[in-house]
Amino acid sequence: MLDEQRQRRLKRITQSIIGLPTLPTVITQLMTLIDSPKTSGRQVAQVISTDQALTAKILKLANSSFYGFPREISTVQHAVVILGFETVKSLGLSVSVLQRFSGPSDNTQFDRQGFWEHSIACGVSARLLAGKLRYRLPGEAFAAGILHDVGKLILSQYFPAEFAQVIERMRTDDIYIGKAEELVLGLTHSEVGSWLAEKWNLPGKLVDAIAYHHTPGRLTRNAELPALIHLADFLCRREGIGDGGGQRMPTLDPAALRIFGIREEPKAALRRIFTYGEELRREMEKADAFTRLARGEAEEESSPPAEKGGEPGETPQPDEDPDPAPLVAHALPYPPLPRSHSSRVQP
Ligand SMILES: [Fe+2]
Ligand SMILES: [Fe+2]
Repeated sequence: MLDEQRQRRLKRITQSIIGLPTLPTVITQLMTLIDSPKTSGRQVAQVISTDQALTAKILKLANSSFYGFPREISTVQHAVVILGFETVKSLGLSVSVLQRFSGPSDNTQFDRQGFWEHSIACGVSARLLAGKLRYRLPGEAFAAGILHDVGKLILSQYFPAEFAQVIERMRTDDIYIGKAEELVLGLTHSEVGSWLAEKWNLPGKLVDAIAYHHTPGRLTRNAELPALIHLADFLCRREGIGDGGGQRMPTLDPAALRIFGIREEPKAALRRIFTYGEELRREMEKADAFTRLARGEAEEESSPPAEKGGEPGETPQPDEDPDPAPLVAHALPYPPLPRSHSSRVQP
């Protein structure tokens, strides 16, 4: 593609992103609050209470079979304690992003349902791998996984004709979707997604995770989250959950392995990561309540309370593991994350 054409297209896309509505204030406030170590559950609850729809969803999720708590959780503050800050943030973010893209799509080629299944699977997969690879913020990993491919939504919604060409090219040439985007558009969903994340003032780590989820080695520092999403994307694509963009896997960036101190040969390392596939499927079943709520679908009645713990002070996460210690406790074969590694990563 000619440079001039590329520039024009870039500009059009950028402008359309600038014209998009911003995230609700409640979400930006939540993200700031939750990122501060001094924030209390009460402050978070106060912010959530200013948004009725979010309040309802948070309460519904806290009372769903996903958590199986024995007593009804009737206040937002209690729900925040039960769910944990990271989950509240992830839920708020996912719901807001879903709402921003809930209109009908003109692009019949784009499987939006498959797209969301892939996104949520990548969130769950990132959270799972966070435990295995000792990444300390599983909730953040979950949110980054959910949002990593958001650029595809923009392309499909705002540039349906061009994106249809991308999908066509991907199929006829049997290539990975990012490659087809480069050939047809001269840019990728990673770039476009990161522009949106910037426009929405999402935290820099999330912006980078979206921008570099296929190329974490290009970052010379703070590359853990993009690397985690890179590997999580492989795991959920390998399991065939949802539609990650065609049959072709993206190219593995070996830097993603080095960032986590994995020294073995990339194919062997990937094979080892793929052994978590079954666990991912189990986690996906547990995340079903989250998925349906985030999508705004009707929530079935919660099942009877489960046997497991439910004391308000326990702050469990979307499974029975408190966050994050037990995930680390069953961390598998990889060596612990080196203390300071990200700034040395090179492509
Ligand atoms: Fe992607
Ligand atoms: Fe993906």
